Amino acid sequence: MSDEQEYVLGTDEDELRRLGFQHQVWAEPTARLWEAARFAPGQRLLDLGCGPGYATADLAQLVGEHGGVVAVDVSRRFLASLEQLIAARRLHNVRWLEQDATRLDLPAGTLHGAFARWVLCFTPDPAAVVGGVYRALAPGARFAVLDYANYEALSMAPPSAAIDRVIEATGRSVRQAGGDFGVGRLLPRLMIDAGFEIESVQPIVRVARPGDALWEWPATFFANYLPTLRSLGLITETERDAFLDVWRARSADPAAYLVTPTIVGVVGVKR
Ligand SMILES: C[S@@+](CC[C@H](N)C(=O)[O-])C[C@H]1O[C@@H](n2cnc3c(N)ncnc32)[C@H](O)[C@@H]1O
Repeated sequence: MSDEQEYVLGTDEDELRRLGFQHQVWAEPTARLWEAARFAPGQRLLDLGCGPGYATADLAQLVGEHGGVVAVDVSRRFLASLEQLIAARRLHNVRWLEQDATRLDLPAGTLHGAFARWVLCFTPDPAAVVGGVYRALAPGARFAVLDYANYEALSMAPPSAAIDRVIEATGRSVRQAGGDFGVGRLLPRLMIDAGFEIESVQPIVRVARPGDALWEWPATFFANYLPTLRSLGLITETERDAFLDVWRARSADPAAYLVTPTIVGVVGVKR
C-alpha cells in the first residue's frame, strides 16, 4: 500500500511530464513574477508545492551559490524526482522537505522570499498556507503567487459547448477535492488578513493557436485528466468523445484559437 500524498491530478509519470512541459510554456510569465518579487542572488527562497522541482531548479540557479532554495511538497514521489533533477543539474543549494502546505513547519522569520505556483488552488485551506508562509518570511520578504483567478474563462474559438462542458466539470472536480480554481480572486484578501501588504496583482492571459506550443498545454492536461473526470462520473463517455472530436477538429482549423484561463500573479510583502 502506498502512503503517497496525491493531489487531484495525480503524481504518475504522465503528470510529471505534463508539469515539465507546463513549466516550459509558462516560464516567461513566471520569470516576470520573480522579477516583480525581486528574487535575487544570495537570497534564501521557499518553493512551496514545488512538485518535481522544475521551478525549484531555476530558482536555485537564480539565487546562486550564496543563496538557497527550500522546496516543500506533500508528494514523496515528486520530491524523489526533484532530488534526481537537482543532482543532474549539480545544484548544491536546494533542500527539500515533505510537508503539508496547510501545516507548514519552517523556522520563523528566516526566508527572503517565497513562491507558490498552482498550489493554493489545490489546498482546502489557502488561508492556513498564506499564514504559514507569512510566519516563515523575514520582514521585507515577498510572497509571489501564480494561480488561477477563473479557470472557467478558458475558452475555445470558434465556441464549443462540448469543450465548455469539460471545462465546467474540471472546475467542479477540483472543488469536490477541496480546491478552488478561482483562488486567485481570494488571494489579496487572504494575504492582507495574514499581515501582507499587496504590492502587485498582474493578470496573465494568453492566446494559443493550433501549432503553438501553448496549444498543447490544455491538450496534455485533458489527455491526463479526462479518465479522472470519467471515473468521478462528472462527464459521460459521449461527452468525453464529443470533447475529443471538437479538440481534434479545432487543432486542424486555421480559424481556431483558445484563450487561457485567467491567471494572476500576486506579490505581497511582509513589512
Ligand atoms: C500543479 S502542481 C504544481 C507544481 C509546481 N509548483 C509547478 O508549478 O511546477 C501542484 C503541486 O502542489 C502540491 N500540493 C498540493 N497540495 C499540497 C499541500 N497541501 N501541501 C503541499 N503540496 C501540495 C502537489 O503535490 C503538486 O506538486
